[in-house]
Amino acid sequence: MADKPVLWLPRRVSDATVARARQSYDVILNDADDVSPPERIIEMSAKVDAMMPCHSEIFSADVVARLDPRLRILANHSVGTDHCDLEALRAKGIAVTNTPDVLSDATAEIAMLLMLGAARRAVEGDRIVRTGGWDFWSPSFMVGKQVSGAKLGIVGMGRVGRAFARKARGFDMEIHYYNRTRLPETEEHGAVYHDTLESLLPEADFLSLHCPATPQTRDLINSETIAKLPRGAVVVNTARGALVDEDALIAALKSGHIAAAGLDCFKVEPGGNPAFATLDNVFMLPHIGSATVWTRDAMGFRALDNLDAFFAGKTPKDLL
Ligand code: DGY
Repeated sequence: MADKPVLWLPRRVSDATVARARQSYDVILNDADDVSPPERIIEMSAKVDAMMPCHSEIFSADVVARLDPRLRILANHSVGTDHCDLEALRAKGIAVTNTPDVLSDATAEIAMLLMLGAARRAVEGDRIVRTGGWDFWSPSFMVGKQVSGAKLGIVGMGRVGRAFARKARGFDMEIHYYNRTRLPETEEHGAVYHDTLESLLPEADFLSLHCPATPQTRDLINSETIAKLPRGAVVVNTARGALVDEDALIAALKSGHIAAAGLDCFKVEPGGNPAFATLDNVFMLPHIGSATVWTRDAMGFRALDNLDAFFAGKTPKDLL
């Protein structure tokens, strides 16, 4: 029997994924589950035929240039691929896949949690009860911003954006969206299309980001775009920290132009921006959009489906 391809799992993916991977591959698992620096990635590329990286492993042009020709495919365990220089990987003949679809609902759930938590002051409320500081109640106590019936602006109407819109319709929100291309009317379900971000922003009592991080979308939310939002808007980011100029957002959160923010993604991860932690009107999570048991298995299985197709000589479903 032919040798199994060797697969490196640089992060501790779900047990079900590891078990299934072992059936078809000689698996090398990074049990330490730490982020691999470039030197380790380069070293491993000479020992394996395939890798299943997460967004934490960086394949910059410099790293890709030094990868060993043995490595044939990166089956990403993520939908985002901003950690990969796709052009450099393609030029080197390394196939790259991702895991779309399977994490849309989980990520949209976190966007909903952040939107509600930011709007209804969940951080402050939890802290007051937890620390025994709840010694007062009045009709003017802890008043937040109502989500139901408000206008929601979605930037990027891909899979996650559409999943979030579906959930937001349950809150009777009026949905507006900005996307490079307009959805077919049958998929808009009444959402209002904007062909520019500038046209969307003044409509957005709530703004939720769902577009990929690219050089074009870097700092999309900056002092100029923030100024176009209605005063008291709430900003939610479950996509990538690169989309937001964090200093501009912090200034707007302090001035009150932005009432609150719900953030699952930061420019620097792990860790985030400590300045956000000084603000009560920020509800933060540590990049856990897709972190459910079901979704983690589904992401791992989707990455394995892509690997299986590749090694069977077929085109993987999610080949980029
Ligand atoms: C993704 O899949 O891109 C998520 O951010 C988790 O990595």
